[in-house]
Amino acid sequence: MSAIGIGVIGLGWMGRVHSQSYLRVGHHFPDLALAPRLVTAADPVAALRDDAARRYGFARTTGGWAEVLADPEVAAVSITTPTDLHAEVGVAAARAGKHIWIEKPVGRDAAEAAAVAGAAAEAGVRSTVGFNYRNAPAVIRARELIATGHLGAVTHARFRFLGDYAAHPMGALSWRFTRARSGLGVLGDLMSHAADLARHLVGPLAAVVADQATFIPERPTPSGATSHYAVGGGALGPVENEDWAACLVRFAGGARGSLEASRVSVADQNNYGFEIHGTTGAVAWDFRRMGELRVSTGDGYQNLALAAEHIGPGVGEYAAFQPGAGIAMGYDDLKVIEAATFLRSIVDGAPHGPTLDDAVHAANAVAAMAESFRTGGWVPVAG
Ligand SMILES: NC(=O)c1ccc[n+]([C@@H]2O[C@H](COP(=O)([O-])OP(=O)(O)OC[C@H]3O[C@@H](n4cnc5c(N)ncnc54)[C@H](O)[C@@H]3O)[C@@H](O)[C@H]2O)c1
Repeated sequence: MSAIGIGVIGLGWMGRVHSQSYLRVGHHFPDLALAPRLVTAADPVAALRDDAARRYGFARTTGGWAEVLADPEVAAVSITTPTDLHAEVGVAAARAGKHIWIEKPVGRDAAEAAAVAGAAAEAGVRSTVGFNYRNAPAVIRARELIATGHLGAVTHARFRFLGDYAAHPMGALSWRFTRARSGLGVLGDLMSHAADLARHLVGPLAAVVADQATFIPERPTPSGATSHYAVGGGALGPVENEDWAACLVRFAGGARGSLEASRVSVADQNNYGFEIHGTTGAVAWDFRRMGELRVSTGDGYQNLALAAEHIGPGVGEYAAFQPGAGIAMGYDDLKVIEAATFLRSIVDGAPHGPTLDDAVHAANAVAAMAESFRTGGWVPVAG
């Protein structure tokens, strides 16, 4: 096994999760040909840099991300900054020859996602994007059941990504609520996951008709660095992007569906999942019961049960974590799998999980939703 030097840019929630994943990945995947070594971490907040060095053992820290890309010992980078920096940092990382594990949504709009994807393709570096819900073994089982025809032909599907992280009217006006730093609101944050999962499970999205709303138009300005769930702050400032969005979708294969995402959904904590129906069967999944897939197959058509299947070894990467079915995996485990897919793709040059091209597809889908809200009609999703 050879070592690969890692840089992490942005040390908030996702920066911590990526750093921990690099440290854990060898425990779960001892056969990986590459062992990550945490070299340089960047964040403008000194306390986060000190914490990252102390907790995770980064050899160096810096306030400037360009130093990470200039570090010859860094071969691969995690880009876990607020979304406005993804394009600038991502393009620079590719041009510096660094492999890229980048968080979703890649950039503030489809053009920024395409810029990073284009730069990575031109430089010949590998990429992995944080569409982590694809890695849940139950989601992999659902995909297998669909692909092998166990549901018949998929007819219609519902995807939901409902959260309450911004439901408090005094929730701080973090970077997520501004056009300049985040671009889209919940369309970028949670709908991008829904669009990716819908395409991954059902197939390409052909066209959408969408609606959106901002229910909390002003929020208190935070005094300094703030977290996803922080409440309170100073004077009220404007919320510049959408709290809620939903669309009807026509899939290229003929199936129909609906996608809904909210960050202000009172009494919904990370209520993410889907129900997919086919001509003879159905599957349903709830992220909060990650190891359980509800399945109905057979030839009875009516009065069938949607029975719980507890996913176990043999499905996806479950066996890397637990020895028998029904033992809960966690969100962070999905990120450890993502680290493994990233490292595998660096080793053999092939994609092993969602890439920047998938990020472009998701960005095109949410751009079509935003356009549909503006025009009020069906909008084709760019390919
Ligand atoms: N895949 C998922 O499930 C998931 C979950 C949460 C967030 N995300 C995505 O991850 C990204 C980061 O989100 P987060 O929740 O970690 O945000 P966060 O606010 O917790 O962290 C962002 C960090 O970036 C730092 N930063 C700001 N400017 C910087 C700069 N110039 N150089 C280096 N660092 C800088 C901030 O100081 C902060 O520590 C976003 O794109 C978000 O959409 C993905």
